[in-house]
Amino acid sequence: MQTAFHVPRLPVDDDLLLRPWHIGDLPLVREAAEDAYIPLVTTVPSPYTHDEGVAFLARQEERALRRTGYPFVVAEVAGDRGLGTVGLWPNATDTGRAALGYWVAGSARGRGVAAAALRTVCSWALDDLGFERLELYVEPWNTASRKTAVQAGFSYEGLHRAWQSVGGERRDMMSYSRLATDLAETVD
Ligand SMILES: CC(C)(COP(=O)(O)OP(=O)(O)OC[C@H]1O[C@@H](n2cnc3c(N)ncnc32)[C@H](O)[C@@H]1OP(=O)(O)O)[C@@H](O)C(=O)NCCC(=O)NCCS
Repeated sequence: MQTAFHVPRLPVDDDLLLRPWHIGDLPLVREAAEDAYIPLVTTVPSPYTHDEGVAFLARQEERALRRTGYPFVVAEVAGDRGLGTVGLWPNATDTGRAALGYWVAGSARGRGVAAAALRTVCSWALDDLGFERLELYVEPWNTASRKTAVQAGFSYEGLHRAWQSVGGERRDMMSYSRLATDLAETVD
């Protein structure tokens, strides 16, 4: 039997680190549950209850156990408060390719947390795990996420029409990629 994925602790900078989810992250899940958009594109429970929050945390652990992906929390080094998440999701059939998703709690936005965390996860995925292509999808209206992608070294590839169901309706998605062969010095 194949072993579970290991979600490591990764330093981001002097103030931030990436680590696995733990029970102390319930306040983060609760805040994300109150966001207008996050529950539409994730399994963050809305409305939030304690039991649903605990079930969300269990799902993150299960994803690593079942080798579905690497769910990270980006947290403050001082105090370990979780601010948001980055998930790395390997493609089920193409071993060289993985998708990424991310969100940051409203109270922690405005200081580039997602781009810094995304850059760190991408470097780890390309350099240590050996992925050759990383990809992510952003709705055209989502300027903060589009900027985050570019700041983390992703290039815009094109628009996928009606790519994904969000809140019960098909939405267009802008596709971005970062390749192992992209010049590292432009992004790190
Ligand atoms: C996308 C997200 C993770 C970015 O969070 P963050 O790391 O705190 O990002 P910041 O607030 O620092 O913003 C990043 C950039 O976008 C800009 N920005 C933020 N909100 C903006 C808005 N509403 N309109 C225009 N630009 C905006 C910022 O000015 C910043 O640009 P700069 O670096 O040139 O100054 C966060 O907004 C979020 O969680 N959104 C909801 C979930 C989501 O959309 N996830 C991504 C799905 S693809």
